[in-house]
Amino acid sequence: MEHFEINGGKKIKGEISVNGAKNAALKILPALILSDEKCRITNFPFVEDTQRMAEILEDLGAVSEKNVEQKIITVDPGGISKTKLDDILVRKLRASILLAGPILAKFGEVTMKHPGGCVIGKRPIDMFLDGFEKLGAKITFDEGGFFMKAEGGKLKGAKIFFPKITVTGTETMMMTAVLAEGKTVLENCAMEPEIPVLAEYLNKCGAKIKGAGTSTIEIEGVEKISGGEFRVIPDRIEAGTFVMMGLLTGSNIKITDCVPSHLGAVIPILEKAGAELEIGEDYIITKESRMKARSIDTHEFPGFATDLQSPYTLLMTQAEGQSLIHETIYEGRLFFTDQLNTMGANIIMCDPHRVVVTGPTKLYGKKLVSPDIRAGITMILAGMIAEGKTTIENIYQIDRGYEKIEERLKGLGVDMKRITVA
Ligand code: EPZ
Repeated sequence: MEHFEINGGKKIKGEISVNGAKNAALKILPALILSDEKCRITNFPFVEDTQRMAEILEDLGAVSEKNVEQKIITVDPGGISKTKLDDILVRKLRASILLAGPILAKFGEVTMKHPGGCVIGKRPIDMFLDGFEKLGAKITFDEGGFFMKAEGGKLKGAKIFFPKITVTGTETMMMTAVLAEGKTVLENCAMEPEIPVLAEYLNKCGAKIKGAGTSTIEIEGVEKISGGEFRVIPDRIEAGTFVMMGLLTGSNIKITDCVPSHLGAVIPILEKAGAELEIGEDYIITKESRMKARSIDTHEFPGFATDLQSPYTLLMTQAEGQSLIHETIYEGRLFFTDQLNTMGANIIMCDPHRVVVTGPTKLYGKKLVSPDIRAGITMILAGMIAEGKTTIENIYQIDRGYEKIEERLKGLGVDMKRITVA
Protein backbone atom coordinates (compact mmCIF):
# COMPACT_ATOMS: atom_id res chain seq x y z
CA MET A 1 0.00 0.00 0.00
CA GLU A 2 1.16 3.56 -0.69
CA HIS A 3 0.35 6.89 0.92
CA PHE A 4 1.61 10.48 0.72
CA GLU A 5 3.18 12.42 3.61
CA ILE A 6 3.28 16.22 3.39
CA ASN A 7 4.84 18.73 5.78
CA GLY A 8 3.00 21.98 5.29
CA GLY A 9 3.35 25.70 5.81
CA LYS A 10 6.02 26.35 3.20
CA LYS A 11 5.93 28.82 0.31
CA ILE A 12 6.79 27.36 -3.09
CA LYS A 13 8.56 28.85 -6.07
CA GLY A 14 9.60 28.13 -9.63
CA GLU A 15 7.87 26.70 -12.68
CA ILE A 16 5.64 23.69 -13.24
CA SER A 17 4.53 22.50 -16.67
CA VAL A 18 1.13 21.08 -17.42
CA ASN A 19 0.84 17.55 -18.81
CA GLY A 20 -1.42 16.32 -21.59
CA ALA A 21 -5.11 16.17 -20.63
CA LYS A 22 -6.41 12.88 -19.17
CA ASN A 23 -9.89 13.77 -20.48
CA ALA A 24 -8.56 14.22 -24.02
CA ALA A 25 -6.35 11.10 -24.01
CA LEU A 26 -9.31 8.99 -22.81
CA LYS A 27 -11.18 9.99 -26.01
CA ILE A 28 -8.53 9.42 -28.67
CA LEU A 29 -7.93 5.83 -27.48
CA PRO A 30 -11.54 4.75 -28.26
CA ALA A 31 -11.62 6.89 -31.44
CA LEU A 32 -8.66 5.09 -33.01
CA ILE A 33 -10.71 1.87 -33.06
CA LEU A 34 -12.73 3.39 -35.94
CA SER A 35 -9.74 2.84 -38.27
CA ASP A 36 -7.62 -0.24 -39.14
CA GLU A 37 -4.49 1.89 -39.20
CA LYS A 38 -2.03 2.98 -36.50
CA CYS A 39 -2.47 6.12 -34.40
CA ARG A 40 0.58 7.85 -32.89
CA ILE A 41 -0.34 9.93 -29.85
CA THR A 42 2.08 12.54 -28.47
CA ASN A 43 2.04 14.56 -25.18
CA PHE A 44 0.27 11.48 -23.75
CA PRO A 45 -0.37 11.46 -19.96
CA PHE A 46 0.61 8.03 -18.55
CA VAL A 47 -1.81 8.27 -15.63
CA GLU A 48 -3.59 5.20 -14.20
CA ASP A 49 -6.86 5.85 -16.06
CA THR A 50 -5.27 6.09 -19.52
CA GLN A 51 -3.26 2.96 -18.83
CA ARG A 52 -6.43 1.06 -17.88
CA MET A 53 -8.00 2.21 -21.16
CA ALA A 54 -4.93 1.04 -23.11
CA GLU A 55 -5.14 -2.32 -21.32
CA ILE A 56 -8.76 -2.74 -22.42
CA LEU A 57 -7.70 -2.05 -26.04
CA GLU A 58 -4.85 -4.59 -25.76
CA ASP A 59 -7.26 -7.17 -24.34
CA LEU A 60 -9.44 -6.63 -27.45
CA GLY A 61 -6.41 -7.34 -29.68
CA ALA A 62 -4.82 -3.92 -30.31
CA VAL A 63 -1.02 -3.62 -30.13
CA SER A 64 0.56 -0.60 -28.43
CA GLU A 65 4.10 0.74 -28.07
CA LYS A 66 4.70 3.05 -25.09
CA ASN A 67 7.50 5.57 -24.50
CA VAL A 68 6.73 7.09 -21.09
CA GLU A 69 9.79 9.39 -21.13
CA GLN A 70 8.85 10.81 -24.53
CA LYS A 71 5.11 10.83 -23.59
CA ILE A 72 4.29 8.87 -26.78
CA ILE A 73 2.03 5.88 -27.35
CA THR A 74 1.41 4.29 -30.73
CA VAL A 75 -1.59 1.99 -31.02
CA ASP A 76 -2.34 -0.40 -33.91
CA PRO A 77 -6.07 -1.36 -33.80
CA GLY A 78 -5.72 -3.63 -36.88
CA GLY A 79 -5.62 -6.78 -34.74
CA ILE A 80 -8.80 -6.11 -32.75
CA SER A 81 -10.92 -9.29 -32.98
CA LYS A 82 -13.02 -9.28 -29.78
CA THR A 83 -16.17 -7.17 -29.17
CA LYS A 84 -16.59 -8.05 -25.48
CA LEU A 85 -14.86 -5.64 -23.05
CA ASP A 86 -12.98 -7.05 -20.05
CA ASP A 87 -15.39 -6.98 -17.08
CA ILE A 88 -12.80 -6.15 -14.43
CA LEU A 89 -11.13 -3.31 -16.34
CA VAL A 90 -14.50 -1.81 -17.31
CA ARG A 91 -15.49 -1.62 -13.66
CA LYS A 92 -12.32 0.37 -12.87
CA LEU A 93 -13.03 3.06 -15.44
CA ARG A 94 -16.26 5.00 -15.99
CA ALA A 95 -14.81 6.27 -19.26
CA SER A 96 -14.83 2.71 -20.66
CA ILE A 97 -18.36 3.52 -21.89
CA LEU A 98 -16.64 5.59 -24.60
CA LEU A 99 -15.37 2.34 -26.17
CA ALA A 100 -18.86 0.93 -26.74
CA GLY A 101 -19.68 3.36 -29.56
CA PRO A 102 -16.66 2.87 -31.86
CA ILE A 103 -16.76 -0.95 -31.40
CA LEU A 104 -20.49 -1.06 -32.22
CA ALA A 105 -19.96 1.22 -35.25
CA LYS A 106 -16.93 -0.74 -36.52
CA PHE A 107 -17.95 -4.36 -35.73
CA GLY A 108 -21.75 -4.09 -35.54
CA GLU A 109 -21.95 -5.39 -31.94
CA VAL A 110 -20.48 -4.95 -28.46
CA THR A 111 -20.85 -6.55 -25.01
CA MET A 112 -19.90 -4.82 -21.77
CA LYS A 113 -20.72 -4.57 -18.09
CA HIS A 114 -22.12 -1.31 -16.74
CA PRO A 115 -19.04 0.89 -16.24
CA GLY A 116 -18.08 1.61 -12.66
CA GLY A 117 -19.43 4.68 -11.09
CA CYS A 118 -17.48 6.61 -8.48
CA VAL A 119 -18.19 8.46 -5.27
CA ILE A 120 -18.93 11.75 -7.04
CA GLY A 121 -22.29 10.53 -8.34
CA LYS A 122 -24.49 7.71 -9.66
CA ARG A 123 -23.18 8.36 -13.20
CA PRO A 124 -26.07 6.81 -15.19
CA ILE A 125 -25.58 5.92 -18.90
CA ASP A 126 -29.21 6.35 -20.04
CA MET A 127 -28.32 9.04 -22.60
CA PHE A 128 -25.72 6.73 -24.19
CA LEU A 129 -28.19 3.86 -24.50
CA ASP A 130 -30.88 6.19 -25.91
CA GLY A 131 -28.39 7.44 -28.48
CA PHE A 132 -27.29 3.95 -29.53
CA GLU A 133 -30.92 2.89 -29.94
CA LYS A 134 -31.62 5.95 -32.09
CA LEU A 135 -28.67 4.97 -34.31
CA GLY A 136 -30.30 1.59 -34.80
CA ALA A 137 -28.81 -0.62 -32.10
CA LYS A 138 -30.86 -3.33 -30.46
CA ILE A 139 -29.91 -3.58 -26.76
CA THR A 140 -30.36 -6.59 -24.48
CA PHE A 141 -29.46 -6.46 -20.77
CA ASP A 142 -28.15 -9.27 -18.57
CA GLU A 143 -26.21 -9.73 -15.31
CA GLY A 144 -25.25 -6.08 -14.81
CA GLY A 145 -24.28 -5.55 -18.41
CA PHE A 146 -25.61 -5.24 -21.92
CA PHE A 147 -25.18 -6.56 -25.45
CA MET A 148 -25.79 -4.22 -28.40
CA LYS A 149 -26.22 -5.23 -32.06
CA ALA A 150 -26.65 -2.93 -35.06
CA GLU A 151 -29.89 -3.93 -36.80
CA GLY A 152 -28.95 -5.08 -40.32
CA GLY A 153 -25.28 -5.05 -39.23
CA LYS A 154 -24.85 -1.28 -39.77
CA LEU A 155 -25.86 1.78 -37.77
CA LYS A 156 -27.95 4.51 -39.46
CA GLY A 157 -27.68 8.27 -38.95
CA ALA A 158 -30.30 9.91 -36.69
CA LYS A 159 -31.27 13.05 -34.77
CA ILE A 160 -30.23 12.90 -31.10
CA PHE A 161 -31.13 15.61 -28.56
CA PHE A 162 -29.35 15.33 -25.21
CA PRO A 163 -31.87 16.18 -22.46
CA LYS A 164 -28.88 17.09 -20.26
CA ILE A 165 -25.44 18.24 -21.47
CA THR A 166 -23.04 15.30 -21.31
CA VAL A 167 -19.34 15.45 -22.27
CA THR A 168 -18.64 11.78 -22.90
CA GLY A 169 -22.14 11.33 -24.30
CA THR A 170 -21.46 13.98 -26.93
CA GLU A 171 -18.01 12.50 -27.72
CA THR A 172 -19.32 8.92 -27.93
CA MET A 173 -22.21 9.73 -30.27
CA MET A 174 -19.96 11.91 -32.43
CA MET A 175 -17.42 9.06 -32.83
CA THR A 176 -20.12 6.41 -33.37
CA ALA A 177 -21.86 8.41 -36.10
CA VAL A 178 -18.62 8.66 -38.13
CA LEU A 179 -19.20 5.15 -39.58
CA ALA A 180 -23.04 5.20 -39.51
CA GLU A 181 -24.94 5.32 -42.79
CA GLY A 182 -26.20 8.83 -43.64
CA LYS A 183 -26.41 11.97 -41.52
CA THR A 184 -26.53 12.33 -37.73
CA VAL A 185 -27.43 15.58 -35.94
CA LEU A 186 -26.54 15.95 -32.25
CA GLU A 187 -28.23 18.76 -30.32
CA ASN A 188 -27.63 20.33 -26.87
CA CYS A 189 -24.06 19.07 -27.06
CA ALA A 190 -21.23 19.68 -24.62
CA MET A 191 -18.67 22.26 -25.84
CA GLU A 192 -15.62 21.31 -23.76
CA PRO A 193 -12.26 22.04 -25.52
CA GLU A 194 -11.48 18.32 -25.84
CA ILE A 195 -14.43 17.86 -28.26
CA PRO A 196 -13.39 20.05 -31.26
CA VAL A 197 -9.83 18.68 -30.95
CA LEU A 198 -11.14 15.12 -31.26
CA ALA A 199 -13.32 16.10 -34.25
CA GLU A 200 -10.35 17.79 -35.94
CA TYR A 201 -8.31 14.57 -35.66
CA LEU A 202 -11.18 12.43 -37.02
CA ASN A 203 -11.70 14.86 -39.92
CA LYS A 204 -7.99 14.71 -40.74
CA CYS A 205 -8.50 10.92 -41.00
CA GLY A 206 -11.41 11.27 -43.39
CA ALA A 207 -14.46 11.78 -41.17
CA LYS A 208 -17.07 14.47 -41.94
CA ILE A 209 -17.90 16.28 -38.71
CA LYS A 210 -19.17 19.87 -38.51
CA GLY A 211 -19.95 22.08 -35.51
CA ALA A 212 -17.85 20.36 -32.80
CA GLY A 213 -17.35 22.88 -29.99
CA THR A 214 -20.87 24.28 -30.51
CA SER A 215 -24.20 22.95 -29.18
CA THR A 216 -25.09 21.34 -32.54
CA ILE A 217 -22.84 18.79 -34.26
CA GLU A 218 -23.55 17.27 -37.70
CA ILE A 219 -21.83 14.08 -38.89
CA GLU A 220 -22.04 12.65 -42.40
CA GLY A 221 -21.24 8.93 -42.19
CA VAL A 222 -18.30 7.53 -44.21
CA GLU A 223 -17.25 3.97 -45.17
CA LYS A 224 -13.88 4.10 -43.40
CA ILE A 225 -11.21 6.41 -42.01
CA SER A 226 -7.41 6.30 -41.87
CA GLY A 227 -5.00 6.38 -38.91
CA GLY A 228 -2.88 9.42 -38.05
CA GLU A 229 -1.05 11.49 -35.43
CA PHE A 230 -2.77 13.15 -32.47
CA ARG A 231 -1.25 15.61 -29.97
CA VAL A 232 -3.01 15.62 -26.59
CA ILE A 233 -3.96 19.17 -25.55
CA PRO A 234 -2.71 20.53 -22.19
CA ASP A 235 -4.76 19.52 -19.15
CA ARG A 236 -6.91 22.54 -18.27
CA ILE A 237 -7.88 20.94 -14.95
CA GLU A 238 -4.21 20.50 -13.97
CA ALA A 239 -3.56 24.13 -15.00
CA GLY A 240 -6.46 25.43 -12.90
CA THR A 241 -5.43 23.29 -9.92
CA PHE A 242 -1.83 24.60 -10.06
CA VAL A 243 -3.12 28.22 -10.21
CA MET A 244 -5.11 27.57 -7.02
CA MET A 245 -2.01 25.94 -5.47
CA GLY A 246 -0.04 29.15 -6.08
CA LEU A 247 -2.84 31.30 -4.60
CA LEU A 248 -3.30 29.03 -1.56
CA THR A 249 0.40 29.11 -0.66
CA GLY A 250 0.73 32.87 -1.41
CA SER A 251 3.48 32.04 -3.89
CA ASN A 252 4.83 33.34 -7.22
CA ILE A 253 4.83 30.31 -9.47
CA LYS A 254 4.73 30.01 -13.28
CA ILE A 255 2.42 27.37 -14.79
CA THR A 256 3.69 26.60 -18.28
CA ASP A 257 2.50 24.66 -21.39
CA CYS A 258 -1.16 25.46 -20.71
CA VAL A 259 -3.99 27.16 -22.66
CA PRO A 260 -5.48 29.83 -20.33
CA SER A 261 -8.59 30.26 -22.52
CA HIS A 262 -9.48 26.60 -21.85
CA LEU A 263 -10.17 27.58 -18.24
CA GLY A 264 -13.28 29.50 -19.28
CA ALA A 265 -14.96 31.28 -16.36
CA VAL A 266 -12.41 30.12 -13.76
CA ILE A 267 -9.86 32.92 -14.33
CA PRO A 268 -12.32 35.86 -14.31
CA ILE A 269 -13.91 34.44 -11.14
CA LEU A 270 -10.53 34.02 -9.40
CA GLU A 271 -9.58 37.60 -10.36
CA LYS A 272 -12.90 38.90 -9.01
CA ALA A 273 -12.07 37.05 -5.77
CA GLY A 274 -8.79 39.00 -5.53
CA ALA A 275 -6.33 36.76 -7.37
CA GLU A 276 -3.39 38.55 -8.96
CA LEU A 277 -2.49 36.64 -12.09
CA GLU A 278 -0.33 37.30 -15.15
CA ILE A 279 -1.88 35.53 -18.13
CA GLY A 280 0.34 34.74 -21.11
CA GLU A 281 -0.40 32.85 -24.31
CA ASP A 282 0.68 29.51 -22.86
CA TYR A 283 1.44 30.34 -19.24
CA ILE A 284 -0.08 31.74 -16.04
CA ILE A 285 1.91 33.37 -13.22
CA THR A 286 0.39 33.58 -9.74
CA LYS A 287 1.29 36.35 -7.29
CA GLU A 288 0.68 36.66 -3.56
CA SER A 289 -3.01 37.65 -3.33
CA ARG A 290 -5.53 38.58 -0.64
CA MET A 291 -8.47 36.31 -1.48
CA LYS A 292 -12.03 37.43 -0.79
CA ALA A 293 -14.94 35.00 -0.54
CA ARG A 294 -16.81 34.55 -3.83
CA SER A 295 -19.65 32.11 -4.45
CA ILE A 296 -19.73 29.86 -7.50
CA ASP A 297 -22.04 27.53 -9.44
CA THR A 298 -20.27 24.80 -11.34
CA HIS A 299 -21.34 24.64 -14.97
CA GLU A 300 -20.63 23.05 -18.32
CA PHE A 301 -17.86 24.71 -20.42
CA PRO A 302 -17.20 27.64 -20.62
CA GLY A 303 -18.71 27.88 -17.12
CA PHE A 304 -16.81 27.01 -13.90
CA ALA A 305 -15.60 23.41 -14.36
CA THR A 306 -16.88 20.93 -11.76
CA ASP A 307 -13.41 19.28 -11.82
CA LEU A 308 -12.00 22.51 -10.31
CA GLN A 309 -14.70 22.83 -7.65
CA SER A 310 -12.78 20.85 -4.97
CA PRO A 311 -9.58 22.98 -5.05
CA TYR A 312 -11.70 26.15 -5.26
CA THR A 313 -13.69 25.10 -2.18
CA LEU A 314 -10.38 24.70 -0.32
CA LEU A 315 -9.26 28.14 -1.55
CA MET A 316 -12.45 29.65 -0.13
CA THR A 317 -11.54 28.24 3.33
CA GLN A 318 -8.59 30.69 3.22
CA ALA A 319 -10.54 33.66 1.78
CA GLU A 320 -12.08 36.45 3.82
CA GLY A 321 -15.83 36.05 4.26
CA GLN A 322 -18.57 33.57 3.43
CA SER A 323 -19.11 31.85 0.08
CA LEU A 324 -21.69 29.40 -1.28
CA ILE A 325 -20.35 26.57 -3.43
CA HIS A 326 -23.12 25.17 -5.64
CA GLU A 327 -22.06 21.90 -7.30
CA THR A 328 -24.70 21.57 -10.04
CA ILE A 329 -23.26 18.61 -11.98
CA TYR A 330 -22.77 15.85 -9.39
CA GLU A 331 -24.65 14.85 -6.24
CA GLY A 332 -21.65 13.35 -4.42
CA ARG A 333 -18.75 15.75 -5.01
CA LEU A 334 -18.92 17.77 -1.79
CA PHE A 335 -18.68 15.05 0.86
CA PHE A 336 -14.87 15.37 0.98
CA THR A 337 -15.41 18.67 2.84
CA ASP A 338 -15.97 16.65 6.02
CA GLN A 339 -12.30 15.75 5.93
CA LEU A 340 -11.30 19.41 5.43
CA ASN A 341 -13.35 20.24 8.52
CA THR A 342 -11.28 17.75 10.56
CA MET A 343 -8.25 19.91 9.59
CA GLY A 344 -9.94 23.08 10.90
CA ALA A 345 -11.96 24.33 7.93
CA ASN A 346 -15.40 25.86 8.55
CA ILE A 347 -17.67 24.29 5.92
CA ILE A 348 -21.39 23.66 6.42
CA MET A 349 -23.21 21.29 4.08
CA CYS A 350 -26.71 22.60 3.19
CA ASP A 351 -27.54 19.69 0.89
CA PRO A 352 -25.59 17.30 -1.39
CA HIS A 353 -25.20 20.10 -3.96
CA ARG A 354 -24.40 23.09 -1.68
CA VAL A 355 -21.92 24.03 1.04
CA VAL A 356 -21.30 27.34 2.81
CA VAL A 357 -17.63 28.11 3.48
CA THR A 358 -16.49 30.65 6.08
CA GLY A 359 -12.89 31.82 6.08
CA PRO A 360 -10.13 32.27 6.72
CA THR A 361 -9.44 29.47 9.21
CA LYS A 362 -6.09 27.86 10.07
CA LEU A 363 -5.62 24.25 8.97
CA TYR A 364 -3.71 21.54 10.85
CA GLY A 365 -2.18 18.35 9.42
CA LYS A 366 -4.40 15.23 9.63
CA LYS A 367 -4.76 11.69 8.31
CA LEU A 368 -6.93 11.83 5.18
CA VAL A 369 -8.32 9.30 2.68
CA SER A 370 -8.64 10.36 -0.98
CA PRO A 371 -12.20 9.51 -2.21
CA ASP A 372 -11.67 10.54 -5.86
CA ILE A 373 -9.20 12.23 -8.24
CA ARG A 374 -10.06 15.90 -7.66
CA ALA A 375 -10.73 15.71 -3.92
CA GLY A 376 -7.44 13.79 -3.70
CA ILE A 377 -5.33 16.51 -5.30
CA THR A 378 -7.16 19.05 -3.11
CA MET A 379 -6.03 17.11 -0.03
CA ILE A 380 -2.43 17.48 -1.21
CA LEU A 381 -2.95 21.26 -1.47
CA ALA A 382 -4.57 21.27 2.00
CA GLY A 383 -1.54 19.40 3.37
CA MET A 384 0.75 22.03 1.80
CA ILE A 385 -0.93 24.91 3.72
CA ALA A 386 -1.65 23.05 6.98
CA GLU A 387 0.55 23.29 10.04
CA GLY A 388 2.33 19.98 10.71
CA LYS A 389 2.16 16.67 8.88
CA THR A 390 -0.68 15.40 6.67
CA THR A 391 -0.92 11.82 5.43
CA ILE A 392 -3.15 10.84 2.49
CA GLU A 393 -4.24 7.25 1.82
CA ASN A 394 -5.96 5.63 -1.17
CA ILE A 395 -3.62 7.61 -3.46
CA TYR A 396 -4.40 5.38 -6.45
CA GLN A 397 -7.27 7.84 -6.85
CA ILE A 398 -4.74 10.68 -7.30
CA ASP A 399 -2.51 8.63 -9.63
CA ARG A 400 -5.60 8.06 -11.77
CA GLY A 401 -5.41 11.69 -12.93
CA TYR A 402 -1.95 13.08 -12.10
CA GLU A 403 1.34 11.62 -13.34
CA LYS A 404 4.22 11.44 -10.80
CA ILE A 405 2.66 14.33 -8.88
CA GLU A 406 5.01 14.20 -5.88
CA GLU A 407 8.13 14.51 -8.10
CA ARG A 408 6.66 17.47 -9.97
CA LEU A 409 5.63 19.28 -6.76
CA LYS A 410 8.99 18.60 -5.12
CA GLY A 411 10.44 20.63 -8.03
CA LEU A 412 8.63 23.65 -6.54
CA GLY A 413 9.94 22.96 -3.03
CA VAL A 414 6.95 21.05 -1.66
CA ASP A 415 7.99 18.81 1.28
CA MET A 416 6.18 15.65 0.19
CA LYS A 417 6.98 11.94 -0.18
CA ARG A 418 5.35 8.76 -1.39
CA ILE A 419 5.60 6.08 1.27
CA THR A 420 5.25 2.41 0.38
CA VAL A 421 4.20 0.09 3.22
CA ALA A 422 4.62 -3.61 2.46
C1 EPZ B 1 -16.72 14.09 -18.10
O1 EPZ B 1 -17.49 13.09 -17.44
C2 EPZ B 1 -15.35 14.05 -17.41
N1 EPZ B 1 -14.78 12.73 -17.57
C3 EPZ B 1 -15.52 14.35 -15.92
O2 EPZ B 1 -14.24 14.41 -15.31
C4 EPZ B 1 -16.19 15.70 -15.75
O3 EPZ B 1 -16.48 15.90 -14.38
C5 EPZ B 1 -17.52 15.74 -16.54
O4 EPZ B 1 -17.30 15.39 -17.91
C6 EPZ B 1 -18.17 17.10 -16.51
O5 EPZ B 1 -17.32 18.07 -16.98
C7 EPZ B 1 -14.16 12.42 -18.74
O6 EPZ B 1 -14.10 13.21 -19.67
C8 EPZ B 1 -13.57 11.05 -18.84
P1 EPZ B 1 -21.23 14.13 -18.02
P2 EPZ B 1 -18.89 12.60 -18.02
O7 EPZ B 1 -21.83 13.01 -18.78
O8 EPZ B 1 -18.92 12.80 -19.46
C9 EPZ B 1 -25.41 13.07 -16.05
C10 EPZ B 1 -12.55 13.89 -13.75
O9 EPZ B 1 -12.43 14.20 -12.55
N2 EPZ B 1 -25.61 12.00 -17.04
O10 EPZ B 1 -20.96 15.39 -18.73
O11 EPZ B 1 -19.13 11.28 -17.48
C11 EPZ B 1 -24.26 12.79 -15.07
O12 EPZ B 1 -24.63 11.95 -14.04
C12 EPZ B 1 -13.92 13.44 -14.29
O13 EPZ B 1 -11.64 13.92 -14.58
C13 EPZ B 1 -26.82 11.34 -17.06
O14 EPZ B 1 -27.71 11.63 -16.26
O15 EPZ B 1 -19.89 13.63 -17.34
C14 EPZ B 1 -23.91 14.19 -14.60
O16 EPZ B 1 -24.75 14.58 -13.57
C15 EPZ B 1 -14.93 13.29 -13.22
N3 EPZ B 1 -26.99 10.35 -17.98
C16 EPZ B 1 -24.17 15.03 -15.85
O17 EPZ B 1 -24.99 14.26 -16.72
C17 EPZ B 1 -26.03 10.00 -18.89
O18 EPZ B 1 -26.25 9.10 -19.70
C18 EPZ B 1 -22.93 15.45 -16.62
O19 EPZ B 1 -22.11 14.38 -16.72
C19 EPZ B 1 -24.81 10.69 -18.85
C20 EPZ B 1 -24.61 11.69 -17.93
